[in-house]
This record gives sequence, structure tokens and C-alpha cells, in this order.
Amino acid sequence: MSMIRTRHGRRTGGWCTDVATEGATTTSAYLAIPRELIAADTVTGVHLYLLVGDRHVLYRSGRQPVGAESLEKLRRRNVAVLYVDARQGDLLRSYMTRHLDVLLREAATPQQQSTVLREATRAVLQATLHRLDEAEAFEQVRLLSDVATRRIAADVALVPGVVRFAGDDGRLFTHATNVSAYAVALASRTDQFALEEVVSIGLGALVHDAGLAGVAPALLWRPEGTLTDMERDYLARHPKRGLATLQRAGVADPIVLDIVHNHHQDEGPAQALSPHASIVRLADTFDTLTSLGADDRQGPFAALYQMRHRMEGFPPGLIRDFVLMLGTLTGVDVSSPIAPLSRRPLLEGVAQPAA
Ligand SMILES: [Fe+2]
Ligand SMILES: [Fe+2]
Repeated sequence: MSMIRTRHGRRTGGWCTDVATEGATTTSAYLAIPRELIAADTVTGVHLYLLVGDRHVLYRSGRQPVGAESLEKLRRRNVAVLYVDARQGDLLRSYMTRHLDVLLREAATPQQQSTVLREATRAVLQATLHRLDEAEAFEQVRLLSDVATRRIAADVALVPGVVRFAGDDGRLFTHATNVSAYAVALASRTDQFALEEVVSIGLGALVHDAGLAGVAPALLWRPEGTLTDMERDYLARHPKRGLATLQRAGVADPIVLDIVHNHHQDEGPAQALSPHASIVRLADTFDTLTSLGADDRQGPFAALYQMRHRMEGFPPGLIRDFVLMLGTLTGVDVSSPIAPLSRRPLLEGVAQPAA
């Protein structure tokens, strides 16, 4: 394991799944989907429901498109979420992957675009992360990641809206999405990588913990101090398992395989890490420290301090670039020097007494 504690999330529950009864006799599980994931005038192929009280009521059949006017009416009525029968989950994910470009174009604000990226990624990962050894499942993730990565690389200002604390159900999916967003933003800041390489970095980051997807939640969330040596070794081997998983799916992209295999290689010499794996390792460490750990989550300052002092052998300047990127994303103009506090008038902004 790395020198910095890198506990990972577990696969829990379902993606926005809520179980409710429909009618008197049938019990179904429903997937909740944000309104932003329905593109106007498209045929979704899945039945859409609204939650009225505690009942799911059919809103639109899968063969009928939802018009722009209807979506606008839902917005005016503050209906933010629609529901789909979980048994139609595959159809829904296929619809979202195929229409991600359209959904992003239709999203009126950057915030809505971020929601589309985050929720679509989460939905696809939830259904595929534990079976990435299947070529079809991996291809669905690749298609989604391709569109998402290019969008984020073109507009890194979307990143703050994409990342979330991984403190709810589905931590591993949130963690994967966060790490990918950070890594793409960092990679696209430099001239070091061509766009196609950034796309591979985004995909590698999204599946970097594929080897953890099958680990029992009870083991993944155990405090590290309570793990036996065998359990610790088992968790530490997840990069190897992830690599084998992707190879079984026929994945051949050397950047993706390198990232999955080496994102914890922090104890060897610096040159052992490729630039791609370095970026993902940095993003992974930051998200793990600030977001993933439920019990020992740290603030960004403490996390960056730890990273600065303990990630030995790390490419010089990369942490600095990461900090600058975070500053840029929060709207701070990091290109101009910051005036020393001591030179600022202490009473700046305070009304002076009349002479
Ligand atoms: Fe990992
Ligand atoms: Fe991770």
C-alpha cells in the first residue's frame, strides 16, 4: 500500500435506488434519474415514472418522446427526479451513453452540464464496475468516458460541479468520477499530452480501482488498523487484479493498463512512474484523503500538506501544478502574485473618520 493511507470505497447499495410498492401486489426497485438526463424529443426506450406520494406513477411510455415543453413544465413544477424500473436499467444506461453529447448540448448551464456528467458516469459505473472483464461492459464505460473527458478537457471549469464527497452510497463510483475529473483537468493544463492521451488518462482514472470492485464492503471499510496482514496484502494487490480484469476484457490501451497497474507505485524511484500514472496517483491520493475516508476525512490543506511532505520521489512540480489547478477552478487568479498581507492597509474598506 502507499505510504499515505489510501483506503478505498466500497460498492454499496444501488444507484439512487429506492424500493417502493407499485399497485397492491408488485414490488419493484426504481432508479432515480435527474431530469437533466432526459434529452428533449428523444425516445428513451424506458418507461418514466414520477413519484407521487409513495407511489410511482407512469409519466411517459418508453416509446413516446418527452418534448421540450414537457421537460420545462417539470422544471417549473420543481420535479428534479424521474424514475425508471430497475429492470430497464440496461436500456436506460444505453440511452444515456448514446445521448450524452445531446444531453450536454441541451444543458442550459454549466451546473446542469456537470450534473449530466456526474450522474451519467455514476449510473454507468454502478452497473459495470464489477464486471469490467466483459468487453461489452468496458466498451460502455469507454464510450461514456470518451465524451465526458473531451467535455471536461474543453472546459475544466465543470470540474467543481462534477466532484462530490464520496460519503454516500456508491462511494467507489463517486471516487472514480472525482479522480477522473481531477486527472483530466490536471493533464489538460499541460502541453505534455495530446488530446487522445488525455482521453486515455480520463478512462484509466475512471477504472483505476477496478480491482476493488469485487471486494466485500465489510473488508473495504474496515479501519486499516484492524486489518490482518493477509487482508492488507489482499487489498494492496488490487492494481494487479484490476490489470488482469481489463486484460480479460481485451483492453489494449497501454496508458489505461499502466494507470490501473501502477497507480499505487509510490515507493519505488520516481522514474518508475509514468507521467500518466503520476497524475492519476496524485488525483487518487487527494480524493482519498479529502473525500473517500468516512472516518478520517481531511481538509484540503491537511491533505496537500501530507502529499507535499510524504509523497517522496514524486515528479517535482506536479503537486504545485495541482494546487494551481485547484486555485484556477475556484476562480482565484493564480497568474498574478498575491500581495503580502502585511502591506495591505489594515483599515481597508473601513470608513475613515471625517477630518
Ligand atoms: Fe487504488
Ligand atoms: Fe482509488
